[in-house]
Amino acid sequence: MVQATPLLLVLFLALGAHGLAVKKCSLTGRWVNDLGSNMTIASVNAKGLFAGSYHTAVTATSNEIKQSPLQGSMQKSPNQKGQPTFGFTVNWSFSDSVTVFTGQCFVDEQGKEVLKTMWLLRSHVDSIKNDWKATRVGTNVFTRLQLQE
Ligand code: BTN
Repeated sequence: MVQATPLLLVLFLALGAHGLAVKKCSLTGRWVNDLGSNMTIASVNAKGLFAGSYHTAVTATSNEIKQSPLQGSMQKSPNQKGQPTFGFTVNWSFSDSVTVFTGQCFVDEQGKEVLKTMWLLRSHVDSIKNDWKATRVGTNVFTRLQLQE
């Protein structure tokens, strides 16, 4: 019984050290995707809610692109193991459209954080007859924006 105590202590420290060594993926910060769009997430609150801004590199419209607000939520369950799932909505400031993104924040084999997402872009159409062509679908991969020195 007495000998079990140091053994438990070693086990506890080993598990603790392992926990510290595993890098977690954080949504907070500046991101760029494979299209060259930029996204900033200021902070994620205790409930997993977040807000930010999105500057798309491309548009399905002929409108001038403007920075647009986003609102989202992240799973806070402990089962997420530092690689949380999330979703967010961008309400475009310069068009009648809305895009919803859903994805997961991963730490890749090089230790780099990456957001793997899928999105639905809903455009406005004038009649229900045109509903069939109103939604586009795609994927985007985001990496942290590296600031140039
Ligand atoms: C619009 O064209 O009505 C608004 C801009 C949509 C930009 C889309 S959203 C999905 C994809 N990922 C991006 O970063 N930009 C495009």
